[in-house]
Amino acid sequence: MKLWSGRFTAELDKLAEEFNDSLPFDRAMYSQDITGSIAHCTMLGKCGIIPQAEADEIVSALRGILADIESGKLEVCGAEDIHSFVENELVKRIGDVGKKLHTARSRNDQVATDTRLFLRDGIDRTVLQLKSLILTLAGKAEQEKSTAMPAYTHMQKAQPTTLGHYLSAYANMFLRDAERFLDCRKRVNVLPLGSGACASTTFPIDRELTAKLLGFDGVTDNSLDGVSDRDFVIEYLSCATQVMLHLSRINEEFVYWSGEEFGFLSLPDEFSTGSSIMPQKKNPDVNELLRGKCGRVFGDLTTMITVMKGLPLAYNKDMQEDKEAIFDADKTLALSLGVMNAFIDKVRFNREAMSAAATGGYSCATECADYLASKGMPFRAAHEVTGKIVLYCVQNGKSLQSMTLSEYKNFSSMFDEGILSAVTAKSAIARRTVIGGCAPQELDRQILKLQKAANAL
Ligand code: ARG
Repeated sequence: MKLWSGRFTAELDKLAEEFNDSLPFDRAMYSQDITGSIAHCTMLGKCGIIPQAEADEIVSALRGILADIESGKLEVCGAEDIHSFVENELVKRIGDVGKKLHTARSRNDQVATDTRLFLRDGIDRTVLQLKSLILTLAGKAEQEKSTAMPAYTHMQKAQPTTLGHYLSAYANMFLRDAERFLDCRKRVNVLPLGSGACASTTFPIDRELTAKLLGFDGVTDNSLDGVSDRDFVIEYLSCATQVMLHLSRINEEFVYWSGEEFGFLSLPDEFSTGSSIMPQKKNPDVNELLRGKCGRVFGDLTTMITVMKGLPLAYNKDMQEDKEAIFDADKTLALSLGVMNAFIDKVRFNREAMSAAATGGYSCATECADYLASKGMPFRAAHEVTGKIVLYCVQNGKSLQSMTLSEYKNFSSMFDEGILSAVTAKSAIARRTVIGGCAPQELDRQILKLQKAANAL
């Protein structure tokens, strides 16, 4: 049964109906829809807009519908959308009383409410998943705080750092992601119900009560905005986009780190797959998918900013297009964060390969320049002298570590035996005790801060 058949004489064209219906996807919001209706009906009863006994009857029937969907007894199908489905089912169960549920409400404010409830649940779950991921990364960072590895700029070895420093960098990104989601939650958690179709309602409803019953922090302040605002959807998708972008970056690292040329990690059997033709292969499919899944979520964000562009006030059916974008992003986020967390927990890094790579590519050249600068040579001149040393090394097949003191002295009389220990990864790492640096004791501070922040999420 359509909720709006009164003024029509002909049936909706079958193709148009299929095109218009949203139940095939918005049934994912059944629990939010029913929860919202229970609160609305409770408020209608309390305000005396419908008799209390009837409100009680409706609420208990709604609870029954929810339980039956949850247990699989009731299949969600055969209606235009989830709102129509629930109302039809209600009327089937309790007759005409059920028809009073929609008093002082429109599907426009109802769907905006359901969407906010759905996203609020999604945000809360995502923040918990991010929290676990941050703590897993911080735990690994603690274990690897003395594992030297090269830090890269332009994908070329730049300066020695540690794997712990590297992993905490990602933990910082995921912490910002969680904070962004929590900030977004403030704007999601506002109740639009009571906005009606667009210009609110003449019934003496108590919106604050409905908000309280549903755990909203407040109510929307303008009914036209209340039904037509999807900023919070765009904001949510933008937060999701950032998470996926960060996942794509760390997984790009894991993909090439797992290759023979790098050999920085060996893929756990549980998180890699083989090839149907090449028996030797162990592929980083999971990491590649984690890198590639961002395409979907970026697409979801693009969908929504495109749908909303140029939409006049107030509700327009275009907005129904938000659902699949939200559901897809929510599912992709949940899956991806779960897999990422499990992968990081399981993966073993190859400390020897990383440490061996740490001093390659003359990555201690900055140490050499800093050494001269600390002896009083202006840094720009020290940079020039060190550049000449690197050139000499390149031309003579030497490394900064295999240079003798007298060779160093040929470039500047300011060098003394201290230079030989200064150009090691160990010293380069240990001396970076500045806030943000990679020295193990400074990293301890960073890790502790991350753990504290994650635990407070
Ligand atoms: N399925 C619709 C949506 O997602 C519900 C609101 C319908 N409102 C309307 N005026 N047709 O937006």
